[in-house]
Amino acid sequence: MIQILKPLIDEIEIKNVVEVLKSGMLASGERVNNFEDAFADYIGTKYAIATTSGTTALGIALKALDIRSGDEVIVPDFTFIATANAVLFQNAKPVFADVNWKTFTIDPDDVLRKITPRTRAIIGVHLFGHPFDVEAIQEICEDYNLFLIEDCAQAHGAEYKGEKVGCFGTVSCFSFYATKNMTTGEGGMVLTNDREIERRLRLIINHGQEQKYLHTTLGYNYRMTNIQAAIGIAQLRKLEDFNEKRIGNAEYLSSHLKAPLETPYKKKDVKHVYHQYVVKIKKDFPMRRSEFINYLGEKGIGSAIHYPLPIHRQPLYQKLGYPKDLCPVSTELSKVVLSLPVHPALTDDDLRYICETINDVGGMK
Ligand SMILES: Cc1ncc(COP(=O)(O)O)c(C=O)c1O
Repeated sequence: MIQILKPLIDEIEIKNVVEVLKSGMLASGERVNNFEDAFADYIGTKYAIATTSGTTALGIALKALDIRSGDEVIVPDFTFIATANAVLFQNAKPVFADVNWKTFTIDPDDVLRKITPRTRAIIGVHLFGHPFDVEAIQEICEDYNLFLIEDCAQAHGAEYKGEKVGCFGTVSCFSFYATKNMTTGEGGMVLTNDREIERRLRLIINHGQEQKYLHTTLGYNYRMTNIQAAIGIAQLRKLEDFNEKRIGNAEYLSSHLKAPLETPYKKKDVKHVYHQYVVKIKKDFPMRRSEFINYLGEKGIGSAIHYPLPIHRQPLYQKLGYPKDLCPVSTELSKVVLSLPVHPALTDDDLRYICETINDVGGMK
């Protein structure tokens, strides 16, 4: 089976983890500090705070910005649900903006329509590895005095106009979940250039502890372990190679797929790192999406739908009273998207087989 996603772990991660296990320093410590420094250096920010997941990274970022009940935060309607739920966890209101059909990322014109006097922040998501329109969203944030939060969970190493995503927001959040472009199993990171926000984030992840057993605010235990950081340090060194492989795989797929599928679009001024390779099934495609998924499965090719529902139509948000007819582009995308394997473990034979199998549908060779 050609899997849709596959983490790449080798002897280096194993050696790093064994070293930590033998050292006895398993919890948060020097390895975590090293990983934070290396990650901040790589993206180009002053500070990095490691945490337990991308979800907690978003949550503590909003908390450090003092987003609270009565506030609204604009989020894209087409993303993984954690982006929106992070706002709910602060008792604030996620307000959904539609996305661009081609890039799948937040639509600045719709963001402008969704701003109210209660809006405090915008979370832009660099979805599937394609950066959102950073300049347009930055401009809106400046005009309306809003915080920009970057959700970079799917875009480690992606670039917007030559700079790495993660360096544009007041805060930016990464996930190191097992299937991401780099992993620590589970894990996350918040980046910022603001010394005071960094201070608050460090308190939030560590019981509000200013000094040993002196707790000045209410905080969580959201600390990353040295074991996770040991994996992260090794993965970060390989990230550029992983991404080059993903880009090469995507280019191969886009130039060899001949079936009536819309292959992923890339804006000229960005580096797309293809966390997912997402095609759209066109009207004249000879199979329904569900049939196509079954067909691929029978041929040993994994695929997945990212995402089968726009967030506003998720049962959770329906129960909260969101109308069903928000965000038409996101709603339409959810009906036609399909992710195909693009991960760096694919071989040339895998890529050839994927294209041949798909081109065979309806006799397209
Ligand atoms: C866009 C986006 N934001 C946030 C998250 C949450 O990250 P995690 O799974 O590490 O909590 C994910 C993870 O899939 C994601 O894709």
